[in-house]
Amino acid sequence: MGRKKLYIETYGCQMNVSDTEVIFAIMARHGYDRTDDISAADIILANTCSIRDNAEQRIHGRIEQFAKEKKQRPGVIVGIVGCMAERLKEALLDSGKVDIVAGPDSYRNLPNLVEAVRPGHPQIDVMLSHEETYADISPVRTDKNGVSAFVSIMRGCNNVCSYCVVPYTRGAERSRDSRTIVREVCELHAAGYKEVTLLGQNVDSYLYKSEETGTVDFADLLAMVADVSPELRIRFSTSHPKDISDKLIETMASRSNICRCIHLPVQSGSDRMLEKMRRRYSREWYLGRVAKIRKEMPDCAITTDIIAGFCSETEQDHKDTLSIMEEVRYDYAYMFQYSERPGTLAARNYPDDVPPEVKTRRLNEIIELQNRLGLESNKRDVGKTFTVLVEGPSKRSADELCGRASNNKMCVFPDKEHKAGDYVDVEVLSCTSATLICKLV
Ligand code: 5AD
Ligand code: SF4
Repeated sequence: MGRKKLYIETYGCQMNVSDTEVIFAIMARHGYDRTDDISAADIILANTCSIRDNAEQRIHGRIEQFAKEKKQRPGVIVGIVGCMAERLKEALLDSGKVDIVAGPDSYRNLPNLVEAVRPGHPQIDVMLSHEETYADISPVRTDKNGVSAFVSIMRGCNNVCSYCVVPYTRGAERSRDSRTIVREVCELHAAGYKEVTLLGQNVDSYLYKSEETGTVDFADLLAMVADVSPELRIRFSTSHPKDISDKLIETMASRSNICRCIHLPVQSGSDRMLEKMRRRYSREWYLGRVAKIRKEMPDCAITTDIIAGFCSETEQDHKDTLSIMEEVRYDYAYMFQYSERPGTLAARNYPDDVPPEVKTRRLNEIIELQNRLGLESNKRDVGKTFTVLVEGPSKRSADELCGRASNNKMCVFPDKEHKAGDYVDVEVLSCTSATLICKLV
């Protein structure tokens, strides 16, 4: 029997992208090759996200599309995996359109689930684990150009922010064996990769202990990974303001191949909201962390996540968010309206009482402010020289290359000589709100 074809659509965060690569690796051992062509697939999986209601609504729409595919080719197996599978469990089977439901800790069991599917007998595994980290699995890389790869260093989350569904969909926090992480990074380096991004829901609470390794915290791990090669760039995400340590910031500052960008989600600038969100830091504490980062690394970009219109948010709370944005001068931000998630502490305890039109207006004010802050941040870089890791041709022109500076800003520059994976030095000539326009130096 020939090998079969697996198609996966990935939604949500970078962790899901990384999980998709793990699923491809597990399924490859059982005779399934990756395809990007849904009409050629024997199995169609959606690796899903539950973070906001609109993320789930999109997937429901896709399930309808998959059902059409199934009508034309009745043997096709359709599976929903990831966070939405974990959250909705059996309810996903009610439509009769889904053959497999598998949560984030069940991927080793996918080949068995596939094997067991029969018409009218869907399969489900949504057990969460306290140990699973897929540490021994070498992911099948799905990046386009062999330059930049994700490496998952931990799974789950113990924070229980009141708005957030992740602890319920991804379970308890657990850290992966540091030796397998360093080994994976060495393999990537040997395969020609130039950049790795270490992934976890809260990387600052990474902690691995064994007799052989001793106690390894995130700063230790970052140093070990950065020391694999000075030619390899290291990024990481996501940091938590309550946990980001002086040791970590100093470790970053001591190694120039650890990229100068920290994603530090603030969520709100109001102490009353932060308390209600159960973030366990204050505005003052957050600004103190920013000051420490700026002191050690004046050139470090700081990016963030912001939620507009959380439960009982007042006009003053909203103004506090706008003012902390001005104070920090974020280089980039992901901005959202609060979306109530069933089962979370907030859904159980606080009414979702900010009217939709007020949420939208506040979000628009936040986006407008960030557009200005982002442009100002880019303008401050005009005249500077950066080392850029080339990703490939720019979107606009075949005579231009694009790539990111250490601070994660996208640079474009005329160049016909270099290729993806090269490091080049550029000078910033001008900018838009999204891009630095550069020339080679
Ligand atoms: N509603 C809106 N945004 C949310 N986020 C997490 N949960 C919710 C929610 N219920 C945002 C946070 C988080 C990012 C990944 O998504 O800003 O940092
Ligand atoms: Fe979405 Fe969060 Fe799950 Fe990532 S961890 S897929 S952002 S719900």
